[in-house]
Amino acid sequence: MNLLGKRILLIVSGGIAAYKALELVRLLRGAGCGVTCVLSRAAGHFVTPLSLQALSESRVYTDLFSLTDESEMGHIQLSRAADLLVVAPASADLLARMATGLADDLAATVLLATDKPVLVAPAMNVRMWQHPATVANMATLAARGVQVVGPDEGAMACNEFGPGRLAEPPAILAAITALLAPAPGPLAGKHALVTSGPTHEPIDPVRYIANRSSGRQGNAIAAALAALGARVTLVRGPVTVPDPAGVTVVRVETAQQMLDACLDALPADIAVCAAAVADWRVASAASGKIKKSPGAPPPMLDLVPNPDILALLSAPRPDRPRLVVGFAAETDALDENAAAKRLRKGCDWIVANDVSPATGIMGGEDNTVHLVTAAGIEDWPRLPKTEVAQRLAARIAATLA
Ligand SMILES: Cc1cc2nc3c(=O)[nH]c(=O)nc-3n(C[C@H](O)[C@H](O)[C@H](O)COP(=O)(O)O)c2cc1C
Repeated sequence: MNLLGKRILLIVSGGIAAYKALELVRLLRGAGCGVTCVLSRAAGHFVTPLSLQALSESRVYTDLFSLTDESEMGHIQLSRAADLLVVAPASADLLARMATGLADDLAATVLLATDKPVLVAPAMNVRMWQHPATVANMATLAARGVQVVGPDEGAMACNEFGPGRLAEPPAILAAITALLAPAPGPLAGKHALVTSGPTHEPIDPVRYIANRSSGRQGNAIAAALAALGARVTLVRGPVTVPDPAGVTVVRVETAQQMLDACLDALPADIAVCAAAVADWRVASAASGKIKKSPGAPPPMLDLVPNPDILALLSAPRPDRPRLVVGFAAETDALDENAAAKRLRKGCDWIVANDVSPATGIMGGEDNTVHLVTAAGIEDWPRLPKTEVAQRLAARIAATLA
């Protein structure tokens, strides 16, 4: 993995984590990158151009309307001269301006004018991150191919807890490396399709049927396959865990949207269906909020089956992935149910996990899985979901070798 000679345009925006951009510049310089910094209009309140200039050993750009800057390095040239644009930290405001296509300061203008890949590292208060406006902006940016690293979950400067902390500079460096100098791993040249998270099936505009899937396991599998060199498309339902860096993320809400996105992503060599797809949806979701009237009985929900994504991807077809892996979350008779599911769905492997409440596994950090293949059933020990993902990715690589 070599970043020597790569050119990074680092855009720093106005958030409390801007001081960490200094550490990122130091790491990038240490890795042999040339770094040019641009400050958004608010960034100068949090970090000085002088510090960035000293560490990057390059001129720092702040002003869209600077006559000297424009004559030496115009904003269009600035946006094209790098191999990658990195926005770290990416404030809620700059992400919104990117999603809307605004060009009202140098940072936003460069981001709109560029023809180079863009990686953003969001950092903000948890409520700002979870606000529907930010969620919609991130979905828009992801759909346009903007890559995302973080945010991390943890204690925040504002004394709140949750997702919103800037990814640590080494993790941002790793995401940059994955984009600019991917390791030629054993899955290089292979395309992996991974589904993750729950689906939400609307009842009316404000209510939906859901489940407790966190998306952690599917996201970890997408990251592990990408780390082995696969090109990964992650189709994921509504989750709050961060998207893995270096994979193409398609955000969906319902089972039907997930199926459509999976079919759009084909052909693939590998499909890992880790999403907890709702089995049923309401036959016809109400167009307005269903009102609760005093004395009236609760509404009856008329449920119909959702498409079976695993069975459809497993069915014989010219573009069937060579290896289709399903997940079975069971609360009883785990091995028998999982083995029967493998045959019923026509997939190659089933990763079965016991999600009975006593295990605390659904939505948690660990997983105890059984790998069901045509050769039999393997019991894996209780492991963090990241390690389950790495083991599974290594098995997939060995099988496709
Ligand atoms: C002390 C302080 C800390 C802030 N931290 C953040 C932050 O971490 N993330 C964020 O999105 N906005 C934060 N803001 C708000 C942004 O600075 C504000 O939205 C600004 O307009 C962003 O401008 P930009 O688009 O140039 O980044 C903070 C504001 C203040 C006063």
